[in-house]
Amino acid sequence: MSEVSSKSVDLVVTSPPYPMIEMWDEVFSLQDKTIGKALNANDGPAAFELMHRQLDSVWAEVDRVLKPSSIVCVNIGDATRTIRDNFALYSNHSRIISFFLKQGFTVMPVILWRKQTNAPNKFMGSGMYPPGAYVTLEHEYILIFRKGGKREFKASEKPNRRESAYFWEERNNWFSDVWMDLKGATQKLFDKNTRNRSGAFPFILPFRLIHMFSVRGDTVLDPFAGLGTTTFAAMSAQRNSIGYEIDENLRESIQSKVDTIVDFSNEHIRARLERHREFVEERIAAEKPLKHTNLHYGFPVITKQEKDLVFHPLLSAEQVRDDTFEVRYGAEEQRTETDTPEPATKKPAGKKKKPSPPKPDSEKGHKQMTLLD
Ligand SMILES: C[S@@+](CC[C@H](N)C(=O)[O-])C[C@H]1O[C@@H](n2cnc3c(N)ncnc32)[C@H](O)[C@@H]1O
Repeated sequence: MSEVSSKSVDLVVTSPPYPMIEMWDEVFSLQDKTIGKALNANDGPAAFELMHRQLDSVWAEVDRVLKPSSIVCVNIGDATRTIRDNFALYSNHSRIISFFLKQGFTVMPVILWRKQTNAPNKFMGSGMYPPGAYVTLEHEYILIFRKGGKREFKASEKPNRRESAYFWEERNNWFSDVWMDLKGATQKLFDKNTRNRSGAFPFILPFRLIHMFSVRGDTVLDPFAGLGTTTFAAMSAQRNSIGYEIDENLRESIQSKVDTIVDFSNEHIRARLERHREFVEERIAAEKPLKHTNLHYGFPVITKQEKDLVFHPLLSAEQVRDDTFEVRYGAEEQRTETDTPEPATKKPAGKKKKPSPPKPDSEKGHKQMTLLD
């Protein structure tokens, strides 16, 4: 990642190829021939370790480009595999945690992404005869690491941080350690087949993590970009982003989605506002308190921290150079019909929202990049 300066990235959200999951054998073997040899020799532990050494070299680069106090989120699943009649677990998540600990990162509580399947053939082993049946893996991990101490904000950065807030009810869901609701998440950027073929995660996954662990205008990196889901989520969230992808064939898929991200993101914003409105109605019906008012939308919120929260709709997303995309945002927040804005806080219509610090190179809006390895 030589194009990326040291200590320039605020957040990494990524999902690497999963060691010892067969769909990634070739990708790993192409990068290191000894991996293919270990697999051909049926040496599972050796192949596992060599695959992780490939990932380690990327994690070391990630460490170089990250700013102090930044966060890394790694979505990873463990693997089970039978080699020479020996069924075994290959614990990818613990191997990655070990590496980040050695690099000096602080380990934060993990999120389990529950991927329940009802398929009757999901169970493996000796069926109803003990003791040779195997537990099915029905979750993946989102590992979270911090580089150094807690991030501090200067006084001049605080307004941007306040505007980057999320709703109280979102916090209660997002910061739970088990995510069970991703499967039913309505808005999918890519269809299911495309996502399965490329190992993409659902849009909502990086979208949440970006809101949880960065502020507007930050730079988000995905060193294993795949279909670019992290970059699209960053566009939606008014963050800059950089993605690296080794498979050139995915370039077209990524480019084909740039045209759709404006409507897709704005619909997502509308849905978030709508869900908050429903939450408010339920809370009022339950006679529970709603003590504060959001200054931009005029609707009630639970905490003082949500008073400045605001969404900016996307105006356009276009390719400005090879693999470089630029997004422009409206200053006018989106309102639902029932919101009653306070006139004093209404911003002039049509004014372009300038990105908050750090400012992007262009005055027009946030720059979104996809670079190739
Ligand atoms: C699990 S997929 C990532 C999917 C992505 N999160 C998405 O939503 O589309 C892992 C990706 O890493 C890519 N990859 C593997 N090794 C790489 C490397 N050394 N550098 C960059 N990309 C790599 C693979 O081609 C694959 O597209």
